[in-house]
Amino acid sequence: MKTFQYKNTTFEVVQGNIVEQEVDVIVNAANSSLLGGGGVDGAIHRAGGPSILEECKKIRAAQGGCSTGEAVVTTAGDLPAQHLVHTVGPVWRGGNDGEMVLLERAYRNSLELAAQKNASSIAFPSISTGAYRFPLDRASYVAVRTAILFLDEGGTIDTVRFVLFGDRDFEIFSEVLDEVTQTMTG
Ligand code: APR
Repeated sequence: MKTFQYKNTTFEVVQGNIVEQEVDVIVNAANSSLLGGGGVDGAIHRAGGPSILEECKKIRAAQGGCSTGEAVVTTAGDLPAQHLVHTVGPVWRGGNDGEMVLLERAYRNSLELAAQKNASSIAFPSISTGAYRFPLDRASYVAVRTAILFLDEGGTIDTVRFVLFGDRDFEIFSEVLDEVTQTMTG
């Protein structure tokens, strides 16, 4: 694990499985249908159980799905968390289609929903860097920078954990954490 302290928040970068994170809020890398999928989404629905999909279907009935960059909150079911935030990251289309802004919104909206639930800890997977093909280094930069800006703008949370699945992903994210924190926090 790699950690970094900023204001009253501890940033953690860990290699592991998102469904095993014992935090207040786990974040799902969902799609706009909210009906599940593969990768993180599949693992979360499998481990969390059917109550998650039941609540997702209620949200669909009320507001349709979840737009890219937006986030919704449901029960975490059998996961070791209080709440599950589903956010939809952008599909990478080369970088000239507003992908960086949409990914930032996905992280920011997830943090804001966690704050509304008075969460003290949140665990993010690497949103959009799997099936959605977002380059990991750029996505990692957006993830860390967005969390720091959230805190600079008055957001409060004790722990922000980034959970990477692969060895190389963990290394890249850890390197980016060092770069961003040095440039943004001096
Ligand atoms: N725990 C942590 N990280 C994981 C796990 C897991 N169990 N499974 C996969 N990952 C990693 C992947 O290696 C990738 O780096 O999470 C990152 C995000 O990958 P995806 O889950 O494919 O998410 P994303 O790229 O945002 O694509 C979302 O895929 O599963 C579907 O329904 C989902 O349509 C949506 C799309």
